[in-house]
Amino acid sequence: MTKINFYPNEKMFSLSGNSFSYIMQIKDGYLRHLYYGKKITDDDISSLFPQFLRAFSPSNFNDDSFDSFSNEFPTFGRGDFRNFALLIKTHTGSRLTDFKYDYHEIINKPKETILPNLKGEKTLVIYLKDIISNIKLCLYYTPYKEGIVRSVCVNNLSNETIYLKKISSFSLDMLNDNHELLYLTGSYARERHIESLPLKPGLFEISSLRGTSSHQFNPFMAVKEKHATEFNGNVYGFNLVYSGSFSLSAYVDQYDCIRLMGGINHADFSWQLKPKEIFITPEVVLVFSNKGLNHLSNQFHNLYKNNLIKDVKHPIVYNSWESTYFDFNEEKLLLLIDKAALLGVETFVLDDGWFGNRLDDTTSLGDWYTNIKKLPNGLKPLINRCKKHNMEFGLWIEPEMISLNSELYQKHPDWVLRDSLHKPIESRHQYVLDLTNKEVLNHLKNTIETLLTENDISYVKWDMNRSLTENCSLTLNFETMEETQHRYMLGVYKLLKYITDKFPNILFEGCSGGGGRVDPGMLRYFPQIWTSDNNDPISRSKIIYGTSLCYPLSTISSHIGDEISHTNGRKTPLDVRLAVNTLGPTGIEFNILKKDLPSLNTIKSELENYKMRRNLIMDGDLYRLESPFEGDLFSMLILNKEKTKGHLVIISLNITTNGKINYIKLKELNPNKQYLINDNIYFGSTLMNVGIPFRHSYGDYCVKTYTLEEVI
Ligand code: GLA
Repeated sequence: MTKINFYPNEKMFSLSGNSFSYIMQIKDGYLRHLYYGKKITDDDISSLFPQFLRAFSPSNFNDDSFDSFSNEFPTFGRGDFRNFALLIKTHTGSRLTDFKYDYHEIINKPKETILPNLKGEKTLVIYLKDIISNIKLCLYYTPYKEGIVRSVCVNNLSNETIYLKKISSFSLDMLNDNHELLYLTGSYARERHIESLPLKPGLFEISSLRGTSSHQFNPFMAVKEKHATEFNGNVYGFNLVYSGSFSLSAYVDQYDCIRLMGGINHADFSWQLKPKEIFITPEVVLVFSNKGLNHLSNQFHNLYKNNLIKDVKHPIVYNSWESTYFDFNEEKLLLLIDKAALLGVETFVLDDGWFGNRLDDTTSLGDWYTNIKKLPNGLKPLINRCKKHNMEFGLWIEPEMISLNSELYQKHPDWVLRDSLHKPIESRHQYVLDLTNKEVLNHLKNTIETLLTENDISYVKWDMNRSLTENCSLTLNFETMEETQHRYMLGVYKLLKYITDKFPNILFEGCSGGGGRVDPGMLRYFPQIWTSDNNDPISRSKIIYGTSLCYPLSTISSHIGDEISHTNGRKTPLDVRLAVNTLGPTGIEFNILKKDLPSLNTIKSELENYKMRRNLIMDGDLYRLESPFEGDLFSMLILNKEKTKGHLVIISLNITTNGKINYIKLKELNPNKQYLINDNIYFGSTLMNVGIPFRHSYGDYCVKTYTLEEVI
């Protein structure tokens, strides 16, 4: 149940969902934040937040200071010396604004424009106005059962052009009670590892300036009580629905108050807003859990599955990349297709190397027509062979990029992101196409549309293999140049919307050198994302665990790789690869023509089992039982919504010679019901309190998987 209440006498707003309340109040004309946390009965709580003047703290009030009150959307230069959410430069050069409550209304959630949005219903809009500069601020709040989606819109009502120097999607003040900040960090092939630190006075920021949400920091953070665990305690999660350069920060002030904030990274940002124009920020998703991190995750997962991510079938794919790299021809691919069909693969995906003159990564991005040296008969024979086996065909593309050595670059050297003086920096021998330029966008729309119309393709892997460097466009000018990165992102979203709307039956998988663009903005168009180039199941267990903090397993695509990982050389047994790399959308990514039959038979039968539990994995609730970040075990349990069926994986990541027996305690079963777990029957209370014994037996990386079913 969600509610939006306004109490006119107290001038108080209260939003609530299943288990949270979010309360604001207008006082002295300003919108103040009072409370966000576990659901409380609507009450006038304002006197529980006493106000008084603080020393060295500018104030227009008799009883309060700008530097200490909880401003719902703090601005620059009026006595609040903490982090500010908004900085507007007006035509006089002044950076001062003074936004006061104007009015509010409850509307249906506005339709999505260019930025990706969650679907939603009733939305509270609070309008603030600076009557001196004649600028309006609209603060949007959509409550869901699981959390709140916020965003902000600036409307320039004046007759002068203004410049937005910083505009956050949200700001939130809360008291620090030994809280900790938790976030996801890493690198290429080591994405989304969990990190946390105590919140102390000062500013802590995670951010990206790469034009993508990045491998290095994910646009997600959580604030948790010090003793909160996976299954206990208060945790607040924040996730930006944005795929470009972002910033999320926590500022702890002199009175031990935390100010959380986030949105577009303003480090290289400025937006020109002409008279009567508006600017809308990306959305941010706020989720509160009083039952620890695991519940927080399931709330995020449900919110995204129900309101953001398209419901699709996730096929088992065979991906050609780690098997052939650039070295293939029609004959080799046909052999692979035949073999993949025998294993139960549902979609054969031809990765990089099929187009232009592409023999390695130095050429041809932009030339999206078949490489006739490798595939003289085009894609048709491959697609027909797939059809013959009742399989679908998928294709890799990297539309946002251009190789220096390409026909497209010969024709349009001015189509890359650059300024007029410097030679752009190369990365993987490629430049970034200027998606702020309409001509480029139209070219891409037509090219991709033709490719997907002329070929029977059911799956597209959409890659993006470098970061943005020159944040300049030859089409922008002195006033608008710092808009480049955000305009680029809007260009990507426009292109994705156009293509995914045109081809609703194609499954688009996102990718950016593995997991460099895993965020809710991308999930709006890509129901699954290639989470990392690192297939090694031991590394992958951490990547999946960290990613699952806010993204559902149904989006975390993984493939069963070679015995020796191509990314880090680690050797792992097949059963471990099978257990970890099938915890979401899955596939095979090694040379199946070289392998001995016994292991292929194991893969075949395991993929059969996977097909039986696929719906459970995609739709079920996740319980993280053992964290690879905290010990040598990884364990996940997935239960269907009715809690009658489950899948349990336990892996030992390290050898402890002659070590102890671990008991893995299951969660959320009915204590009084009995469950068949592999070949044994136990009560739920036994499985949850005694647990399943697990001991490392012999050799590297032991694994145990269990199927669980309620006995009727
Ligand atoms: C990226 C992807 C890989 C593969 C290569 C192809 O690195 O993450 O899976 O598609 O590009 O060049």
